[in-house]
Amino acid sequence: MSREPAAPLLSARDLTKRYALSAGVFGRGATFAAVDGVSFDVERGETLGLVGESGSGKSTTGRLVVRLEEPTGGNVFFEGQDWLALSGRELARRRRDVQIVFQDPQTSLNPRMTCGAQVSEPLSVQGLARGRDLKERVGSLLAEVGLSADIARRFPAELSGGQRQRVAIARALATRPKFVVCDEPVSSLDVSVAAQVLNLLAELREKSHLSYLFISHDLAVVSRVADRIAVMYLGRIVEEGSAAAIVARPLHPYTAALLSASPETDPARRRPRIALSGEPPSPASPPSGCAFHPRCPIARPRCREETPKLFPTPDGRRVACFFPGELAPGAP
Ligand SMILES: Nc1ncnc2c1ncn2[C@@H]1O[C@H](COP(=O)(O)OP(=O)(O)OP(=O)(O)O)[C@@H](O)[C@H]1O
Ligand SMILES: [Mg+2]
Repeated sequence: MSREPAAPLLSARDLTKRYALSAGVFGRGATFAAVDGVSFDVERGETLGLVGESGSGKSTTGRLVVRLEEPTGGNVFFEGQDWLALSGRELARRRRDVQIVFQDPQTSLNPRMTCGAQVSEPLSVQGLARGRDLKERVGSLLAEVGLSADIARRFPAELSGGQRQRVAIARALATRPKFVVCDEPVSSLDVSVAAQVLNLLAELREKSHLSYLFISHDLAVVSRVADRIAVMYLGRIVEEGSAAAIVARPLHPYTAALLSASPETDPARRRPRIALSGEPPSPASPPSGCAFHPRCPIARPRCREETPKLFPTPDGRRVACFFPGELAPGAP
């Protein structure tokens, strides 16, 4: 039996992204951390789910990893190589290995280009195919995502939402990437179409031995597709572990609250709802201590004063809470 190489496919270490605050009470030049010291690994063939409320920094993390944006600090290693040190032609060439699928194909696809032209573009930019070969590759990519060849001649506006997202997936897969960031790939789709696209992503992963960073605000969706889950709150990971362990027994009270809030279709598994008081605070002025403490049902004075670090648990998770496991929905 061959052994997997030791280095994960992708590692993020202490990734940080600061944005400028719009000039106001904080004055000019002030910044805030949208992503604040985020670290994770994604193994070959693995799906890491990234979940959290709106504004928690999920999309920013995804954009940093694929280098649509440059981080303020931290590192990314891809196949053990310093991914952020790549530039020029070397970066352009290696971009084929790392792709991204966005939430809304309506905006991620160009309305003035045919679907065929959009799927073929990365192949011609990378010099991977041309002429007749290019046309054939586009046809087989469309077939791979469950679309007929005549879609190539159509414009995005002539397709359904589900078909459009399949075109976006075909485009992302065109260069045969090893790693794909899926940023809310089914959030704009109807439930039944969403389920089909999730199945497609799972099939493609098996067939092409892909790895995903799968971003969603919905823990139920993430737990269906991910092997491991990282939960983000206000720019930081607060819990990370196997999807099965997290769903069976969340350790962080924020994870427990997310889990209790996610729509569960099976009534036998429905859990008592843990209400989260208030809106998430602004990352521009994070609370003292544990950023979750103002909304946490089990917060103690310590949580206001000290910031919990992510620490490893005996079952192989990481959690940033002084009182892990106290608030578990559905726990006896
Ligand atoms: N280009 C930018 N300039 C300034 N602030 C930004 C920029 N992009 C994101 N932000 C801010 O950074 C924070 C994190 O945003 P991000 O889009 O990563 O969150 P998210 O978890 O993906 O949220 P959602 O679930 O709504 O997509 C937010 O406060 C957002 O307003
Ligand atoms: Mg987002």
